[in-house]
Amino acid sequence: MTSYGSYPAARPRRLRTTPAMRRMVAEHRLHPADLILPAFVREGIGEPVPVSSMPGVVQHTRDTLRKTAVEAAEAGLGGLMLFGVPLHKDATGSQGTDPDGILQVALRDVRAEVGDALVLMSDLCLDEYTDHGHCGVLDDRGRVDNDATLERYAEMALVQAEAGAHTLGPSGMMDGQIGYVRERLDRAGHEDVSLFAYTAKYASAFYGPFREAVASSLEGDRNTYQQDPANLRESLRELELDLAEGADMVMVKPGLPYLDVLRVFAERVDVPVGVYQVSGEYAMVEAAAEKGWIDRERVILETLTSFRRAGAGLVLTYWALEAARLLRR
Ligand code: PBG
Repeated sequence: MTSYGSYPAARPRRLRTTPAMRRMVAEHRLHPADLILPAFVREGIGEPVPVSSMPGVVQHTRDTLRKTAVEAAEAGLGGLMLFGVPLHKDATGSQGTDPDGILQVALRDVRAEVGDALVLMSDLCLDEYTDHGHCGVLDDRGRVDNDATLERYAEMALVQAEAGAHTLGPSGMMDGQIGYVRERLDRAGHEDVSLFAYTAKYASAFYGPFREAVASSLEGDRNTYQQDPANLRESLRELELDLAEGADMVMVKPGLPYLDVLRVFAERVDVPVGVYQVSGEYAMVEAAAEKGWIDRERVILETLTSFRRAGAGLVLTYWALEAARLLRR
């Protein structure tokens, strides 16, 4: 290539000259269909209740959830991920398996309202339902009992599938949960219900605001079942197991602190890979924006783009509806 004295011969800036040029050469794009909106529905409230640590996020009533589902479908979102907040919590999380429990009722509502216009997903975990706040049932020494919990998950899976969920999100990090739930779904004739495995779910402080959102009373931590933030190889072992057990899609969670894990997943598997931008990530950005310290909309789109760049096909984000709006502009 010709060079002109000390002037640069290669000029990458040429491809950054105009908005049209930058748009054309962009390597990754966001699309509303890749976004999944997590939403909370709470039993026994007349009005939506704001989640104070997540400005803009509420615990929905059945009614406002239905409206939100319609909005989500109209915005062309990929799906909804529903979490139920029951009035009564107990040791076994009995509301999670009651066909008339709040999550099951909400699934029926939403399915009746929007049908198949979006993918209806539900959280398959006990922490929203237990009075001790753990993701499983406890043994007589107070430890989370893996295999007894699997039985509870299987029962939950069946009522959620009956209520109309297209996809279940097992998020409790119990060993064998994907295989156990898959077999029970199949035996009951729900072989079309897919599993979006929370494969690499880290024991993260970024879930803080979520605990308020689901009114969780957890004392202690989840370190005996969720992964140590120090580990990457361990998540590859979880990945192999989940795929062998029949996961249809796999997820990394949280998002921004684990982009490296996401990258490795995306390089290794042929199933869709998702990422969950969790409550604490949302809260951090909202708090800084409220102080006027960052440009909120640009930061939202930049974080979502970083997930796509790292290899995520699907992104769960509390900004899904807003991001869809921003993308239309
Ligand atoms: C478990 C579950 C949690 C989140 C999603 N599913 C909480 C936890 O594992 O402690 C956190 C999501 C968020 O922080 O936004 N049911």
